[in-house]
Amino acid sequence: MKILLTGATGFLGGKLFAALLADGHSVRALVRPTSDLSSLPPPAAHGGALDLAYGDVTDCRSVLDAASGCHVILHAAALVEPWLPDPSKFISVNVEGLKNVLQAARETKSVEKIVYTSSFFALGPTDGRVADESQVHHEKFFCSEYEKSKLAADHVARQAASEGLPIVMVYPGVIYGPGKLTAGNVLAQLLIERFSGRLPGYMGYGSDKFSFSHVEDVVQGHIAAMHRGQPGERYLLTGENASFMHVFDMAAIITGTKRPSFHIPLWMVSMYGWVSVFFSRITGKLPLVSPPTVQVMRHQWAYSCNKAKVELDYEPRNLREGLEEMLPWLNSLGLINY
Ligand SMILES: NC(=O)c1ccc[n+]([C@@H]2O[C@H](COP(=O)([O-])OP(=O)(O)OC[C@H]3O[C@@H](n4cnc5c(N)ncnc54)[C@H](OP(=O)(O)O)[C@@H]3O)[C@@H](O)[C@H]2O)c1
Repeated sequence: MKILLTGATGFLGGKLFAALLADGHSVRALVRPTSDLSSLPPPAAHGGALDLAYGDVTDCRSVLDAASGCHVILHAAALVEPWLPDPSKFISVNVEGLKNVLQAARETKSVEKIVYTSSFFALGPTDGRVADESQVHHEKFFCSEYEKSKLAADHVARQAASEGLPIVMVYPGVIYGPGKLTAGNVLAQLLIERFSGRLPGYMGYGSDKFSFSHVEDVVQGHIAAMHRGQPGERYLLTGENASFMHVFDMAAIITGTKRPSFHIPLWMVSMYGWVSVFFSRITGKLPLVSPPTVQVMRHQWAYSCNKAKVELDYEPRNLREGLEEMLPWLNSLGLINY
């Protein structure tokens, strides 16, 4: 079975690529000419040259060429940023890019299944409850343009499913764990800030809630969705629901370091975000914290992955186990010290 994987040079995609090769699959990765290939699996992992198709999801022709002869498409590529100076890029990559992948799937007769990586953002905030796959985004407001684009892409994916395209949609929570340090690995980035002292306190008072998904669990969830996911179905690949305050407390316990001794109110973090955005427009360097990050933290995003547990044998580890692996990894790279 030949698989086309998009987003292979990203945090999730890199791990997915390695796992698919380890399972003995033949994988072609769609990469951009500008992609950093350093995190792709070494030749020993696949016994030969990597099958790379150069292109861009915004270029339909290149996706079509890459899909040639493939039986499955795993579409994990996306622009994953809380803020961009040009927000239209979220639509062109995350929505139009998905449309191109679906078009390629329609035109490539060998394609039997598509697994599309959506996001918990596509289901919307859950404020005060734990939601499942039946939740529909309320669309009353959006915390970020990224969230808006992932919802728009979700509509596209569901529409394609209703037209009979064999697409399975998976919805990870906040993905964390060892892996490439892209903007997608936000927990690693925040832990680095926390341990360096640049983020001296908790952000807010712990009223936020997120579902934390370990990257290896999300990878296994994708592979299970590829084999056993029912076309047209949605599967939440989420994990333990917790606040960032809880994560920082747990990190302190695991590393034997002091917990933050004060809270930074979200309005203050937001002001910092506005200043960061201002400087970003001058320097071109994207900010770690921006106003949309704070908007997201003003809500709760708690989900149940029971459906994936039952139908995909999805077995997410708890946050403590995940952090007990991730913190020594960050330490071993010298990115944090304790
Ligand atoms: N990270 C999370 O917490 C999280 C949570 C829920 C869902 N997700 C979803 O999971 C997927 C992977 O996220 P991630 O965290 O691994 O993101 P990431 O590390 O930022 O990786 C994004 C990948 O998409 C590729 N890409 C971006 N624009 C592209 C384009 N125009 N054409 C082709 N490839 C393009 C990137 O290629 P380059 O290397 O060339 O930039 C990279 O390989 C995304 O669909 C995201 O929405 C992520």
